Amino acid sequence: MQLLDGKLVSEKIKQDIAAEAAEFLASNGRKPHLVAILVGHDGGSETYVASKMRNCKQVGFDSTNIRYEDDISQEELIQKIEELNQDDRIDGLIVQLPLPKHIDPEKITEAIDYRKDVDGFHPINLGRMQRNLPCFIPATPYGILLMLDHYMIQTTGMHAVVVGRSNIVGSPMSILLARNTQPGNCTVTLTHSRTKNVKEEVLRADLIIAAIGKKNFITADMVKEGAVVIDVGINREVSTLTKSGYKLYGDVDFESVAPKASYITPVPGGVGLMTIVGLLKNTLAAAKHAIY
Ligand code: GUN
Repeated sequence: MQLLDGKLVSEKIKQDIAAEAAEFLASNGRKPHLVAILVGHDGGSETYVASKMRNCKQVGFDSTNIRYEDDISQEELIQKIEELNQDDRIDGLIVQLPLPKHIDPEKITEAIDYRKDVDGFHPINLGRMQRNLPCFIPATPYGILLMLDHYMIQTTGMHAVVVGRSNIVGSPMSILLARNTQPGNCTVTLTHSRTKNVKEEVLRADLIIAAIGKKNFITADMVKEGAVVIDVGINREVSTLTKSGYKLYGDVDFESVAPKASYITPVPGGVGLMTIVGLLKNTLAAAKHAIY
Protein backbone atom coordinates (compact mmCIF):
# COMPACT_ATOMS: atom_id res chain seq x y z
CA MET A 1 0.00 0.00 0.00
CA GLN A 2 1.27 3.46 -0.89
CA LEU A 3 -0.02 6.56 0.84
CA LEU A 4 -1.10 9.37 -1.49
CA ASP A 5 0.48 12.22 0.40
CA GLY A 6 -1.59 15.38 0.01
CA LYS A 7 0.83 17.38 2.10
CA LEU A 8 3.82 16.54 -0.09
CA VAL A 9 2.03 16.96 -3.43
CA SER A 10 0.17 20.13 -2.47
CA GLU A 11 3.32 21.83 -1.18
CA LYS A 12 5.17 20.96 -4.37
CA ILE A 13 2.42 22.29 -6.65
CA LYS A 14 2.03 25.40 -4.47
CA GLN A 15 5.71 26.19 -5.04
CA ASP A 16 5.05 26.20 -8.80
CA ILE A 17 1.95 28.36 -8.31
CA ALA A 18 3.94 30.82 -6.16
CA ALA A 19 6.57 31.15 -8.90
CA GLU A 20 3.86 31.86 -11.48
CA ALA A 21 2.17 34.35 -9.14
CA ALA A 22 5.48 36.21 -8.78
CA GLU A 23 5.79 36.37 -12.59
CA PHE A 24 2.21 37.60 -12.80
CA LEU A 25 2.97 40.35 -10.30
CA ALA A 26 6.11 41.38 -12.18
CA SER A 27 4.28 41.73 -15.50
CA ASN A 28 0.92 43.05 -14.28
CA GLY A 29 1.81 45.11 -11.21
CA ARG A 30 -0.75 43.29 -9.10
CA LYS A 31 -1.34 39.88 -7.57
CA PRO A 32 -3.99 37.33 -8.58
CA HIS A 33 -7.00 38.07 -6.38
CA LEU A 34 -9.58 35.68 -4.94
CA VAL A 35 -12.74 36.87 -3.18
CA ALA A 36 -14.67 34.44 -0.98
CA ILE A 37 -18.13 35.28 0.34
CA LEU A 38 -19.10 33.55 3.56
CA VAL A 39 -22.68 33.74 4.86
CA GLY A 40 -23.38 32.85 8.48
CA HIS A 41 -21.26 31.01 11.01
CA ASP A 42 -21.07 27.35 9.98
CA GLY A 43 -17.99 25.98 11.74
CA GLY A 44 -16.80 23.88 8.81
CA SER A 45 -17.26 26.71 6.32
CA GLU A 46 -15.38 29.17 8.54
CA THR A 47 -12.45 26.75 8.73
CA TYR A 48 -12.41 26.12 4.97
CA VAL A 49 -12.60 29.80 4.03
CA ALA A 50 -9.87 30.72 6.54
CA SER A 51 -7.70 28.00 5.01
CA LYS A 52 -8.36 29.29 1.48
CA MET A 53 -7.38 32.83 2.53
CA ARG A 54 -4.22 31.58 4.29
CA ASN A 55 -3.16 29.54 1.27
CA CYS A 56 -3.70 32.48 -1.09
CA LYS A 57 -1.32 34.51 1.02
CA GLN A 58 1.19 31.66 1.08
CA VAL A 59 1.46 31.58 -2.72
CA GLY A 60 1.44 35.35 -3.19
CA PHE A 61 -2.21 35.99 -4.09
CA ASP A 62 -4.43 38.71 -2.69
CA SER A 63 -7.52 37.39 -0.97
CA THR A 64 -10.61 39.02 0.46
CA ASN A 65 -13.20 37.42 2.67
CA ILE A 66 -16.57 39.15 2.61
CA ARG A 67 -18.82 38.05 5.46
CA TYR A 68 -22.57 38.37 5.93
CA GLU A 69 -24.89 37.33 8.70
CA ASP A 70 -27.30 34.56 7.73
CA ASP A 71 -30.24 36.95 7.46
CA ILE A 72 -28.88 38.54 4.26
CA SER A 73 -31.49 38.35 1.50
CA GLN A 74 -30.91 36.52 -1.77
CA GLU A 75 -31.38 39.81 -3.66
CA GLU A 76 -28.74 41.59 -1.59
CA LEU A 77 -26.29 38.76 -2.10
CA ILE A 78 -26.87 38.70 -5.86
CA GLN A 79 -26.44 42.46 -6.01
CA LYS A 80 -23.05 42.15 -4.30
CA ILE A 81 -22.01 39.34 -6.68
CA GLU A 82 -22.94 41.50 -9.68
CA GLU A 83 -20.84 44.32 -8.31
CA LEU A 84 -17.85 41.99 -7.82
CA ASN A 85 -18.37 40.55 -11.34
CA GLN A 86 -17.70 44.04 -12.73
CA ASP A 87 -14.59 44.67 -10.65
CA ASP A 88 -11.44 44.18 -12.79
CA ARG A 89 -9.26 43.86 -9.69
CA ILE A 90 -10.95 40.58 -8.81
CA ASP A 91 -10.03 37.42 -10.72
CA GLY A 92 -11.85 34.67 -8.83
CA LEU A 93 -15.13 34.80 -6.91
CA ILE A 94 -16.57 32.03 -4.77
CA VAL A 95 -19.53 31.80 -2.43
CA GLN A 96 -18.95 29.20 0.27
CA LEU A 97 -21.67 26.53 0.50
CA PRO A 98 -23.92 25.59 2.18
CA LEU A 99 -26.07 28.72 2.24
CA PRO A 100 -29.01 29.45 4.56
CA LYS A 101 -32.28 27.81 3.48
CA HIS A 102 -33.91 31.01 2.16
CA ILE A 103 -31.14 31.40 -0.44
CA ASP A 104 -31.24 29.25 -3.59
CA PRO A 105 -27.68 28.04 -4.28
CA GLU A 106 -28.51 27.61 -7.99
CA LYS A 107 -29.44 31.30 -8.31
CA ILE A 108 -26.22 32.30 -6.56
CA THR A 109 -24.07 29.99 -8.69
CA GLU A 110 -25.58 31.37 -11.88
CA ALA A 111 -25.14 34.97 -10.72
CA ILE A 112 -21.36 34.57 -10.64
CA ASP A 113 -19.65 35.50 -13.92
CA TYR A 114 -18.54 32.14 -15.34
CA ARG A 115 -15.17 33.72 -16.16
CA LYS A 116 -14.59 34.29 -12.43
CA ASP A 117 -16.24 31.03 -11.30
CA VAL A 118 -13.08 29.41 -9.92
CA ASP A 119 -15.23 26.87 -8.05
CA GLY A 120 -16.34 25.58 -11.46
CA PHE A 121 -19.97 25.32 -10.34
CA HIS A 122 -21.57 27.49 -13.06
CA PRO A 123 -23.55 25.51 -15.67
CA ILE A 124 -21.33 26.96 -18.42
CA ASN A 125 -18.22 25.54 -16.77
CA LEU A 126 -19.99 22.27 -16.05
CA GLY A 127 -21.12 21.91 -19.68
CA ARG A 128 -17.71 22.83 -21.04
CA MET A 129 -16.09 20.33 -18.67
CA GLN A 130 -18.30 17.54 -19.98
CA ARG A 131 -17.28 18.47 -23.55
CA ASN A 132 -13.57 18.55 -22.61
CA LEU A 133 -13.33 22.27 -23.41
CA PRO A 134 -11.20 24.76 -21.42
CA CYS A 135 -13.08 25.55 -18.21
CA PHE A 136 -12.78 25.80 -14.46
CA ILE A 137 -12.94 22.32 -12.94
CA PRO A 138 -14.44 22.10 -9.42
CA ALA A 139 -11.59 22.27 -6.91
CA THR A 140 -11.95 18.89 -5.20
CA PRO A 141 -12.24 16.77 -8.37
CA TYR A 142 -9.43 18.86 -9.89
CA GLY A 143 -7.26 18.19 -6.83
CA ILE A 144 -7.96 14.46 -7.12
CA LEU A 145 -6.93 14.47 -10.79
CA LEU A 146 -3.71 16.27 -9.85
CA MET A 147 -3.04 13.68 -7.16
CA LEU A 148 -3.61 10.73 -9.54
CA ASP A 149 -1.43 12.47 -12.11
CA HIS A 150 1.38 13.12 -9.62
CA TYR A 151 1.60 9.45 -8.67
CA MET A 152 1.26 8.49 -12.35
CA ILE A 153 -1.66 6.20 -11.62
CA GLN A 154 -2.86 4.91 -14.99
CA THR A 155 -6.63 5.04 -14.76
CA THR A 156 -7.35 4.08 -18.37
CA GLY A 157 -9.70 1.10 -18.45
CA MET A 158 -10.28 1.14 -14.71
CA HIS A 159 -13.73 0.65 -13.28
CA ALA A 160 -14.21 3.74 -11.11
CA VAL A 161 -16.98 3.76 -8.53
CA VAL A 162 -17.93 7.18 -7.21
CA VAL A 163 -19.89 7.11 -3.96
CA GLY A 164 -22.03 10.25 -3.59
CA ARG A 165 -23.59 12.42 -6.33
CA SER A 166 -23.10 15.94 -4.95
CA ASN A 167 -22.74 18.87 -7.34
CA ILE A 168 -19.44 19.74 -5.70
CA VAL A 169 -17.65 16.37 -5.87
CA GLY A 170 -19.40 13.15 -6.92
CA SER A 171 -21.23 14.34 -9.99
CA PRO A 172 -18.34 16.29 -11.61
CA MET A 173 -15.89 13.54 -10.60
CA SER A 174 -17.94 10.96 -12.48
CA ILE A 175 -17.89 13.14 -15.61
CA LEU A 176 -14.14 13.78 -15.36
CA LEU A 177 -13.21 10.13 -14.90
CA ALA A 178 -15.26 9.15 -17.94
CA ARG A 179 -13.57 11.72 -20.22
CA ASN A 180 -11.14 10.66 -22.90
CA THR A 181 -8.07 11.94 -20.98
CA GLN A 182 -5.50 10.67 -18.51
CA PRO A 183 -6.41 10.62 -15.66
CA GLY A 184 -9.75 9.44 -17.00
CA ASN A 185 -10.81 6.85 -19.55
CA CYS A 186 -12.59 4.97 -16.76
CA THR A 187 -15.79 3.00 -16.85
CA VAL A 188 -17.73 4.91 -14.24
CA THR A 189 -20.43 3.89 -11.81
CA LEU A 190 -22.00 6.71 -9.80
CA THR A 191 -23.66 5.43 -6.64
CA HIS A 192 -25.87 7.41 -4.26
CA SER A 193 -28.43 7.11 -1.49
CA ARG A 194 -30.92 5.32 -3.77
CA THR A 195 -28.44 2.76 -5.07
CA LYS A 196 -29.77 -0.73 -4.32
CA ASN A 197 -26.58 -2.44 -3.22
CA VAL A 198 -23.69 -0.02 -2.72
CA LYS A 199 -21.38 -2.70 -1.34
CA GLU A 200 -21.79 -4.85 -4.45
CA GLU A 201 -21.01 -1.85 -6.69
CA VAL A 202 -17.99 -0.69 -4.69
CA LEU A 203 -16.55 -4.23 -4.62
CA ARG A 204 -16.19 -4.04 -8.42
CA ALA A 205 -14.08 -0.88 -8.25
CA ASP A 206 -10.46 -0.53 -9.31
CA LEU A 207 -10.76 3.11 -8.23
CA ILE A 208 -13.02 4.22 -5.37
CA ILE A 209 -13.97 7.86 -4.86
CA ALA A 210 -15.68 8.10 -1.46
CA ALA A 211 -17.58 11.39 -1.30
CA ILE A 212 -20.66 10.60 0.74
CA GLY A 213 -20.03 12.56 3.95
CA LYS A 214 -20.44 9.61 6.34
CA LYS A 215 -17.69 8.67 8.77
CA ASN A 216 -15.99 5.34 7.97
CA PHE A 217 -18.72 4.39 5.46
CA ILE A 218 -16.37 2.37 3.24
CA THR A 219 -15.21 -0.70 5.14
CA ALA A 220 -12.74 -3.44 4.18
CA ASP A 221 -15.47 -5.88 3.11
CA MET A 222 -16.50 -3.41 0.36
CA VAL A 223 -13.03 -3.08 -1.17
CA LYS A 224 -11.40 -5.26 -3.82
CA GLU A 225 -7.77 -6.22 -3.21
CA GLY A 226 -5.47 -3.69 -4.92
CA ALA A 227 -8.03 -0.91 -5.38
CA VAL A 228 -7.01 2.76 -5.45
CA VAL A 229 -8.94 4.50 -2.67
CA ILE A 230 -9.60 8.25 -2.66
CA ASP A 231 -11.25 9.54 0.50
CA VAL A 232 -13.02 12.89 0.12
CA GLY A 233 -14.73 12.80 3.52
CA ILE A 234 -14.11 15.54 6.06
CA ASN A 235 -16.39 14.51 8.90
CA ARG A 236 -15.80 16.71 11.94
CA GLU A 237 -16.44 15.44 15.44
CA VAL A 238 -15.92 17.30 18.67
CA SER A 239 -12.86 15.97 20.50
CA THR A 240 -10.99 16.92 23.63
CA LEU A 241 -7.88 15.23 22.24
CA THR A 242 -6.98 17.82 19.60
CA LYS A 243 -5.91 21.47 19.80
CA SER A 244 -8.69 22.60 17.47
CA GLY A 245 -11.35 20.82 19.55
CA TYR A 246 -12.29 18.69 16.52
CA LYS A 247 -11.14 15.43 15.06
CA LEU A 248 -11.56 14.68 11.35
CA TYR A 249 -12.78 11.35 10.00
CA GLY A 250 -12.82 10.26 6.38
CA ASP A 251 -15.58 8.40 4.55
CA VAL A 252 -13.22 5.41 4.50
CA ASP A 253 -12.38 3.24 7.48
CA PHE A 254 -8.66 3.75 6.90
CA GLU A 255 -7.39 1.15 9.40
CA SER A 256 -9.22 -1.76 7.82
CA VAL A 257 -9.16 -0.60 4.18
CA ALA A 258 -5.50 0.50 3.86
CA PRO A 259 -4.02 -3.04 3.92
CA LYS A 260 -6.20 -4.00 0.90
CA ALA A 261 -5.53 -0.85 -1.14
CA SER A 262 -2.74 -0.29 -3.66
CA TYR A 263 -2.92 3.46 -3.00
CA ILE A 264 -4.97 5.36 -0.42
CA THR A 265 -5.39 8.97 0.73
CA PRO A 266 -5.31 9.74 4.46
CA VAL A 267 -7.71 12.08 6.27
CA PRO A 268 -6.47 14.62 7.15
CA GLY A 269 -3.51 15.14 4.84
CA GLY A 270 -5.05 13.87 1.61
CA VAL A 271 -7.75 15.27 -0.66
CA GLY A 272 -8.51 18.33 1.52
CA LEU A 273 -5.10 19.84 0.83
CA MET A 274 -5.43 19.06 -2.88
CA THR A 275 -8.77 20.89 -3.03
CA ILE A 276 -6.97 24.08 -2.05
CA VAL A 277 -4.46 23.49 -4.84
CA GLY A 278 -7.30 23.09 -7.36
CA LEU A 279 -8.78 26.40 -6.25
CA LEU A 280 -5.42 28.19 -6.41
CA LYS A 281 -4.72 26.85 -9.90
CA ASN A 282 -8.13 28.00 -11.10
CA THR A 283 -7.59 31.46 -9.59
CA LEU A 284 -4.22 31.79 -11.28
CA ALA A 285 -5.75 30.68 -14.60
CA ALA A 286 -8.52 33.26 -14.15
CA ALA A 287 -5.99 36.03 -13.47
CA LYS A 288 -3.97 35.08 -16.55
CA HIS A 289 -7.11 34.74 -18.68
CA ALA A 290 -5.77 31.30 -19.54
CA ILE A 291 -9.26 29.88 -19.98
CA TYR A 292 -11.53 32.82 -20.93
N1 GUN B 1 -18.50 23.81 0.37
C1 GUN B 1 -17.85 22.62 0.41
N2 GUN B 1 -16.91 22.57 -0.56
C2 GUN B 1 -16.98 23.73 -1.22
C3 GUN B 1 -16.26 24.26 -2.32
O1 GUN B 1 -15.36 23.65 -2.92
N3 GUN B 1 -16.60 25.52 -2.70
C4 GUN B 1 -17.58 26.21 -2.10
N4 GUN B 1 -17.87 27.43 -2.55
N5 GUN B 1 -18.28 25.75 -1.07
C5 GUN B 1 -17.97 24.51 -0.64
